[in-house]
Amino acid sequence: MEIVVVADEGEFAAVAADQVCTLLRHKPAAVLGLPTGNTPVGLYAELVKRNRAGEVDFRRCTTFNLDEYVGLPADHAGSYRTFMWKNLFSGINLPATAAHLPAGDSGDPVRAAREYEALLAKLGPIDLMVLGIGTNGHIGFNEPYTAADSRAHVSQLTPSTIRSNSVYFGREELVPRQAITLGLGNILESRRIMLLAKGESKAKAIAATVMGEIAPTVPASYLQRHPAVMLILDGAAAALLHKPGEKPGRGGEAAG
Ligand code: GLP
Repeated sequence: MEIVVVADEGEFAAVAADQVCTLLRHKPAAVLGLPTGNTPVGLYAELVKRNRAGEVDFRRCTTFNLDEYVGLPADHAGSYRTFMWKNLFSGINLPATAAHLPAGDSGDPVRAAREYEALLAKLGPIDLMVLGIGTNGHIGFNEPYTAADSRAHVSQLTPSTIRSNSVYFGREELVPRQAITLGLGNILESRRIMLLAKGESKAKAIAATVMGEIAPTVPASYLQRHPAVMLILDGAAAALLHKPGEKPGRGGEAAG
């Protein structure tokens, strides 16, 4: 694993955006895997800025989001479709038909997951999978004990994920209990993976991902098996990767 610890928000977004832009320069028809959450918001704003400045072109690109809640209308304020259009898709020149998310509102989530799997099989593989991480080490909505070879599926959210994600819904009771997510198998089949994490609340999950045993209790630990994983972390998320007393460095650090 390549680990980059950045100094501030600006560097976090710039380093992550550089990875996307370099890929698209070399491969304009690349397939991107995209996450939601607070963590990638700066990256998305940076990509919008660079696209407007003509520095990156999404016209031939295809995107697959990792996940979507089950049962929310697509235009619901808490849906990941709404999040993606607000933060990225409306600001870049990606054709609307090239932006894919699971159909969480279809009424038949098992079938929607199967169709999402088939679409990825047809248009994939993913060239660069961008990931966030849950405080419990989930990636996408692959909660602890999800099989390492899992495909797109309906996931039952854990109480800790429901609690963490309640900030987007106001109250825990309003958070959907299920989501459709790409599986760990889909994620691990991506050519390259870039995991983003910010803040103290992610430090334990990051330490377990990088230095822990590969175990079903921490789904992100399976990333150790992938040959091309880059982690972009702020100092707080990287804090437990360092020996006591050692200060997190400014970027370009390699470990793991
Ligand atoms: C959700 C998403 C994950 C995301 C995680 C962290 O559970 N399904 O893909 O990585 O939240 O979100 P945040 O970046 O807001 O901490």
